Amino acid sequence: MKIITKTKELKNILGSINNLSESIGLVLTMGNIHAGHLSLIKEAQNNNKLVITSIFINPTQFDNDDDYKSYPKTLDQDIVKLKSSNCDLLYLPTVHEIYPKGLVIEKSTLKYRNILCDGHRPDHFDGVTTVVNTFFDIIKPKNSYFGEKDYQQMKLIDEMVKIKKIDVNVVSCLSIRDKNGMSLSSRNSNFTQKQSEIFESLAKKIKLLVKTLKKNNLKANFNQFKKELSKININKIDYLEIRDEKNLEITSNHHHARLFIAVFIDKIRIIDNFKLY
Ligand code: PAF
Repeated sequence: MKIITKTKELKNILGSINNLSESIGLVLTMGNIHAGHLSLIKEAQNNNKLVITSIFINPTQFDNDDDYKSYPKTLDQDIVKLKSSNCDLLYLPTVHEIYPKGLVIEKSTLKYRNILCDGHRPDHFDGVTTVVNTFFDIIKPKNSYFGEKDYQQMKLIDEMVKIKKIDVNVVSCLSIRDKNGMSLSSRNSNFTQKQSEIFESLAKKIKLLVKTLKKNNLKANFNQFKKELSKININKIDYLEIRDEKNLEITSNHHHARLFIAVFIDKIRIIDNFKLY
């Protein structure tokens, strides 16, 4: 696996490949590689000649400096995992390489806004779409792979691609879930023992809620559920909503419905979503 840190060098390598019109599959990550990322790489390998993974902890998508600084950094282990996944190239740029003019962000996408995560993290998605656009511009992949765990992110990136008429397929991939039913997330590697126990209890409660919602035609007592979360010390809930996966609007129709949830275990924000059909 080639490891490239300089954009210029990467563009030189890709120049010759693009001329041969080999298809490039791209998996963008912020590191702390886990089975979810590896499944995206596998999917990319099945459909492209060359697979590039990036690791870049994007400063413009964090709400505060503490969160940015405490984001898990595990580069050595990540490289070992990526090598054994047979990824062709790892792009590992510095902040200056991606933001040569400073940390500027563009608000390019107005659809799917002011709801779910965007309602609670106002600039977050502008940071995400800005950095993803930069990566697409540098690498010009044919296909780029995103996990459904970050469902709203995936919809916004897809929308950005349409607005900017970027020639890339945004491929949405199923969440890889732990045996407790929750999607894998890099943030979970920061859990203490106590937080892991709370997470396990949360997972059990969500599993039951999803089962009830499916059985009772999307009806369940959300207030009761919130009370139960407070019993396990989860008191900050950003949202707990049923939305249509196609347009992200609130729905009471079980076709295409998903439960979207964002809660905090201490300062760690957990987001996930669950099909209800
Ligand atoms: O989902 C992520 O890890 C990030 O938001 C992404 C897409 C790599 C952009 O920084």
